[in-house]
Amino acid sequence: MTDLFAPLSMRDLEVRNRIAVSPMCQYSCEPDGLPTEWHRVHLGSRAVGGAGIVMTEATAVEPRGRITPADLGIWSDEHAAALEPITEFAREQGATPAIQLAHAGHKASKTRPWDGNEPIQPDDGGWEVLSPSPDGYPPFGGERPAMREMDRDDIDAVIDSFREAAERSLAAGFEIAEVHAAHGYLLHEFLSPATNLREDEYGGSFENRTRLVREVTAAVRDVWPDEKPVFVRISGTDWLDDRPSWDREQSVRLARDLDKLGVDLVDVSSGGLHPDQNAPAGPNFQVPLAERIGEETDVAVGAVGGITEPEQADALVRNRRADLVLVGREFLRDPYFGVHAADELEGESTEWPIQYRRAVR
Ligand code: FNR
Repeated sequence: MTDLFAPLSMRDLEVRNRIAVSPMCQYSCEPDGLPTEWHRVHLGSRAVGGAGIVMTEATAVEPRGRITPADLGIWSDEHAAALEPITEFAREQGATPAIQLAHAGHKASKTRPWDGNEPIQPDDGGWEVLSPSPDGYPPFGGERPAMREMDRDDIDAVIDSFREAAERSLAAGFEIAEVHAAHGYLLHEFLSPATNLREDEYGGSFENRTRLVREVTAAVRDVWPDEKPVFVRISGTDWLDDRPSWDREQSVRLARDLDKLGVDLVDVSSGGLHPDQNAPAGPNFQVPLAERIGEETDVAVGAVGGITEPEQADALVRNRRADLVLVGREFLRDPYFGVHAADELEGESTEWPIQYRRAVR
């Protein structure tokens, strides 16, 4: 068996292989953050298609945490009940259902990408967005969203929203909860000195800037059962080398803190905070960021970005560059990336769904 198809054991969970569907917004909820047939078919197809982990898109822990009004949410029991058939179906197909819990912070209240990704103001169907520091809001271009600086009550409410969202995710049948602390959304906005200009205990020093991520993670870990894993997605760097920002060294340090809090895997992406970022692209473009955290800490790491080929994914696990490979856009092009990879790497032992075997044997 190739390393890509070796099961991944974390706590009492065994994932069938090392391939995960990376979280990807579908902007397809109507209305109010509830999943639709699109989500059932989209996530269900990738479970049929052989992914080890099928992760939801960024799922908002409260309505103001949505990037667009069409984003998925989990801020009520109704949301949890609507997500349950998705987790049940994924499990029936042998995949592990995971949820990415998210708050979009000052990047919230926008139109969908195909409608221009423009801020929507409160009198136009949007809302006042939450920011660690409105003065640190980057010049994204276009109109600036209505926003306010979070006070202590707002911060406590966000922590509670993540905790309650985790409880609901458990009720909905998810096996893994991932905290989204990457891509310039709320938790990353607190981490980076490029966006966090606060002078209270949530700004300034590394200890203070990482406080909210640690508190949110601890709250999620607290309600998530000991048998089940928690992941955190971070941006390994802001790619802003010309100014104070979030970088590789701080990521290693944070990963050690997260490990101590009981996080099982750090999912390492990058960027998304600031339009001036100078980010590379291409195959494996973020892998060195994950690899470094894997080398310098005891926590498992996930690599993502520019991973499109089965042999490439297998080599990342085989060469101990990552414990898990997250695949984004290639899973949009090919919902069956998992079974296609198994065909290519494992040959005879490929597990296609029984309903499809006459097509492949
Ligand atoms: C994304 N990405 C993303 N990331 C995340 O953490 N939460 C999310 O909800 C989304 N949404 C999203 C939507 C779409 C349409 C795309 C293409 C991407 C980023 C994604 O998970 C992944 O990290 C990147 O796409 C890089 O991986 P690939 O696509 O090169 O495999």
